[in-house]
Amino acid sequence: MGIPQPAFYMFKCEQSAPPGMPKPSCVTPETQDLFQHLAQKLMKEGIMGTVQPIRTSCLNRCSSGPVMLVEPGHIMYAGLNKEKIDRIVDEHIIGGNVVKEYVIDKEQWDEPITPAEMKKQMGM
Ligand code: FES
Repeated sequence: MGIPQPAFYMFKCEQSAPPGMPKPSCVTPETQDLFQHLAQKLMKEGIMGTVQPIRTSCLNRCSSGPVMLVEPGHIMYAGLNKEKIDRIVDEHIIGGNVVKEYVIDKEQWDEPITPAEMKKQMGM
């Protein structure tokens, strides 16, 4: 038997901007320990490894931050805090049900364009 691949990847945006910068950011003094909280929650539940938390740079949805992308599923969660992260792990990752009320607005996260279609649109 081989080494099992993870069942989920949780990509937490860890981009921060210096204070006073106009661009919103996912990591502020109030939200800087969310990744650590996520990792601790996964360890507490005994599911670290089959669920892999990943620190990413900007996911291009800064105005909805703090954001986190869960794969598989292309599920983008927005406006995160510790309580929301706990619920996402309990209900989505363990329970199998996406926490719809924390998912980013459809307007901000519509269906993807396939790379082949994008090439066509660009006339390439
Ligand atoms: S800074 Fe997090 S999505 Fe851009």
